[in-house]
Formats: sequence, structure tokens, C-alpha cells
Amino acid sequence: MKLTIIGTGYVGLITGACFAEFGYETVCVDKDLDRINQLNDCICPFYEPGVEELLNKHLNKTKLLSFSNSLPQSVHNADIVFITVGTPSKRLEGDADLSFVWDVAREISQNIKKYCLVVTKSTVPVGTTQHVKQIILENVNQESFDVVSNPEFLREGSAIDDFMRPDRVVIGCENKKSENIMKELYRPLNLNETPIVSTSIESSEVIKYASNSFLATKISFINQVANLCEQVGANIQDVAKGMGIDKRIGSKFLHAGPGYGGSCFPKDVKAFINTAKKNNVDFSILSAVDSFNDGRISEITKKIISKSNLNKGDTATMLGLSFKPNTDDIRDSTSIKIAKILNEKGINIKCYDPEAMTNAKKENSFLVLSDDAYAACEESKVIIIGTEWNEFRALDLKQIIGKQNNLCIFDLRNIYNPKELKELGYNYFGTGT
Ligand code: UGA
Repeated sequence: MKLTIIGTGYVGLITGACFAEFGYETVCVDKDLDRINQLNDCICPFYEPGVEELLNKHLNKTKLLSFSNSLPQSVHNADIVFITVGTPSKRLEGDADLSFVWDVAREISQNIKKYCLVVTKSTVPVGTTQHVKQIILENVNQESFDVVSNPEFLREGSAIDDFMRPDRVVIGCENKKSENIMKELYRPLNLNETPIVSTSIESSEVIKYASNSFLATKISFINQVANLCEQVGANIQDVAKGMGIDKRIGSKFLHAGPGYGGSCFPKDVKAFINTAKKNNVDFSILSAVDSFNDGRISEITKKIISKSNLNKGDTATMLGLSFKPNTDDIRDSTSIKIAKILNEKGINIKCYDPEAMTNAKKENSFLVLSDDAYAACEESKVIIIGTEWNEFRALDLKQIIGKQNNLCIFDLRNIYNPKELKELGYNYFGTGT
């Protein structure tokens, strides 16, 4: 089977590299020639564990993977064409901006030479795949193609593992022919008995948004319970543990923190709310999830300032800048949002992140970068643990605190034991403890 992936962003690149690992001849296409040249040199434009090894293996050894900036040639021979271009939020409305998807659909339609599947893998609102079909039908007759929805559920930082060992694969098809091709494509996952959910195109598109929105709801829920715990002397980690053991609830995505960030949840939640609005459906639960998450940053910043008595001219340290560990992605990073608000109040921000400092500095020149966590903490009045990188879990706090008796530690991700630290006399503030 010959595969073409259009868009070499996060989803496209991981998908391409993993399909090559399955043994398929895969071409990844992007308009950005610099990016294509970089990829052909085996350089991944973002940090993701394991991806460069896969690129190296399939570009140089098996030769199953290639990169091109020519869409026409890559579509001519393809059995399956995946659309994996970005669907960012439109600035004001919160709707997904689908202009890249429409452009690519038009270009595909001008280059279909034999029967193929056109698969939407980008996160797209319900109705998008049918619209892609209508665009293609302007140039190609129905016998020459089928459209399919096949959303991805990859998490940044563990994307390759998620691709190789997914909880499920969702395929939304209109007929048996396309369903059978998609099942054949994912046959390598039979070995670990991955369930394949075969459904309509519309259900498949909704599954993606409903899944991300449900996880975001779990996070806002546990963060509100964390606020309550702080008021009544309970410990959110014990509470989450006690809840999560119940299989109906599940322990995952019950970690309290500064709110959800990243390139997916904030944008997908807003887009899903808009879909509900357009269809006159009450989705007040999700609106509450969204507005609480948006407001959480300023609430947390207020807490940091008031508990530590931070003033203009003081220095605070932010440990962790990426929106989560094991990535250099800073999109909608809660650490950076908090750092920005503090900086606007005249507070100097020293910081350290194992991977995200270059990206962070590009857009936030006020950040003072340090070589490691210890250097970042020197002469600070406040230390904020913003991202739960493993290397922050076992810091020598005695060395950090030294003679600075009043130093406050805000552990936004609860990676330390509050009881132990408080007993040692530290000014420690967890989240929900
Ligand atoms: C998320 C989904 O988990 C993937 O299944 C999906 O494919 C992806 O979006 C997407 O739509 O492309 P990702 O954004 O990489 O993946 O990261 P998550 O691990 O889901 O974390 C999202 C945010 O929630 C982060 O800011 C994280 O810190 C926060 N979070 C997560 C919590 O605050 N508490 C938790 O318990 C879990």
C-alpha cells in the first residue's frame, strides 16, 4: 500500500514515520521547502522522543519514508492520501480555521489519477470530511475516490508509543470498500488486539472532539475540587486516588494543576462549544470547563503573589516552560502565561526547561534563561514548578534554599510531598493541598 501524508506538522510527521515502521511506502508532503530539506537530513523540527530514530531508519535504511514538496506527484500513485494540515483556532470566534484543509482538498482533486482514499486525520469539526468530498467531486467522479475520517489520539511526548499501542483506532467510512482498506491498513495492530471502532464519518468526527473535551472536563473538574480541598484542609492527591480507583471514574487525567494547555485541548474545547451553539444544543458543561480553565491562570498568579508577597523588582523562578513534559511545545503553556503576568507586574523571571527554552525565548524575550534548575533558583524569592519534568522531581531542595529562609515553593504539579516539605519547615504550596 502506498501512502501520502499531506502536512508535516506534529500529526503528519509522526503518522508518516509510524506507517513506514509498519512497512508501508510513505511520502510526507509539505509546501515548506526548508522543512522538507531539514527532514531529508533527518532533522526533526520539534522534540519528540524516538522520532529521529524512526526517521533515520526509514529514510536511510529501509527507504520506505520520503519527504517531498510536490503534492501532485505524491498524490498520483497513492492508495491512501491523509490530510494532516493544521486547523488552528480562528482568532476571535474560537472556530477551527479550515482554510488549509479546503486548499489541500482542492489540490488533491486536481491530481487523483486512480482510485484512492482521502482521509481526514487533522482534528476537524463534524461535517468537514463531507465537505472535502464535495470539493473533490468538483473535479473527480465518485468512482475514483472515497473519503474517510480517521482521527488521531496521539499525546505529545509519547506519540510513537500511542501510535503503536493505541487504546483504539476510529475509522468513519461511507461504504464497505473503504472500511476494508482502512482495516487492512491497521492490520499490523492486530497483534496487540487493538479495537477498531468502525462508524459513520460524522460519528468519527464527533468522537475526536468528545474525547478531548471529556478529558478537559475531567481536568477542570479536579481543579475545582482542588480549590475546595485548599479551603477545607483536604489533599487533592488523596481525593483523586480515592476517586480514580473506581473503574467507572478511572485515575487518568485527574491530576490537579494550573489547567490544561497545549495545542489541542484549549482549541478543541472552544471549537466543540461552537459546534453545539451552531446546532442550538446546550453545552453549558463544556462552556464552564472552558471559562474556568481560562480564568485559572490569573487565580494561580494571584495566589503566588499574595502568599509570597512578591513585589516589583523581585525575582521569581519558573521551572518548566513547555505545556507538559517531554516536549518543546510551548503553545498555550500555562507556565509561560503565568510568567508573563508576573513579568507585567515588574517581577524578573529566571527560568529553566530541559527542551523548551529556545522556543520560549523566541516569543518571550523577558525570560532570563539558566543552564540548569539550580542556577535558575539562585537569588529568587519564589520558585514555581510549572511543568512536571522528571528532573525536577528529585531536586536537592536544601541546596536550592540554602540561606534563603523565606523562599516560597509553588509546586503547581504536586510533584513533592506537601507533608514532608512542610515538616522540614519549607514555605511550600502545592495545588489542592
Ligand atoms: C491531547 C490528547 O491527550 C490526545 O489524545 C490527542 O490526540 C491530542 O490532545 C490531540 O488532539 O492532538 P496532548 O495535548 O499532547 O494530547 O497532551 P495531554 O497529555 O492530553 O495534556 C493536555 C493538557 O492537560 C496539558 O496541559 C496537561 O498538563 C494537562 N493535564 C493532563 C492536566 O492538567 N492534568 C491531567 O491529569 C492530565
